[in-house]
Amino acid sequence: MSAQAPIRRITTPQLTARKGGDPIVSLTSYHAHTAAIVDRYADFILVGDSLGMVMHGMESTVPVPLDLMIMHGRAVVRGTKRALIVVDMPFGTYEESPQMAFRNAVRIMKETNCGAVKLEGGKRMAETIHFLVERGIPVMGHIGLTPQSTHTMGGFKTQGRDEDGWIEHEQDAQAVQDAGAFAIVLEGMVEPLAAKITKQIQIPTIGIGASADCDGQILVLEDMLGLNPTPPKFVKMYGNLLEGIETAVASYAADVKSRTFPTEDQVYRNKK
Ligand code: KIV
Repeated sequence: MSAQAPIRRITTPQLTARKGGDPIVSLTSYHAHTAAIVDRYADFILVGDSLGMVMHGMESTVPVPLDLMIMHGRAVVRGTKRALIVVDMPFGTYEESPQMAFRNAVRIMKETNCGAVKLEGGKRMAETIHFLVERGIPVMGHIGLTPQSTHTMGGFKTQGRDEDGWIEHEQDAQAVQDAGAFAIVLEGMVEPLAAKITKQIQIPTIGIGASADCDGQILVLEDMLGLNPTPPKFVKMYGNLLEGIETAVASYAADVKSRTFPTEDQVYRNKK
């Protein structure tokens, strides 16, 4: 028996049960203290591999290593107590075989204590999703614009512009559901296609640059806070933190240069 009081987090079956109900709120987070704020509002927090781009200045998510995902996953789990934590499986850690995916998903779950993993791909990943779920690993799917495939897709392109191609995405969603995923991210797809898939499948759809009709929404925290100088076009800005940081850093530099930098004693007296 554990000596610690158990943390009661939202579970994957609870999220699945939200299909068609109260919209699911989600954000990404990569940092213990910001995750603690997100935890008060979000049903699940994704430690997404977009951290390679928004935190580490990479050009895509392709170079993100597994150890980096685990390190940020641990920080987010440490900073939170309520939301379900989902950690992305980075490129190259799951595509080769279900066995390889299982080994790496186990590492993620054991070393971060997260509640689920997410991986990209529809029909082509169905066998792997089934293999993981059967062995106790909850999986969130991710279809549409799948950033790990940027090199084969020819960039970050909105999917479904040609209605003739919708069937592929609809089949992907169905395959991910049938394989046992508890929810699915629909990223960067035309609005009516995302709305159609949401109606067709029984697991919650989580939209990003997709449709307001999805069962929930997710945004990258750095994008919506204005911390990413080049956010995707669809992102609504809920803050402008880059400007706030610039102002604070500039005024600190001015204090130092003008020798008005407060001593510890002055700071203490101002606080009293
Ligand atoms: O890595 C990420 O941030 C994601 C979201 C875009 C869903 O996968």
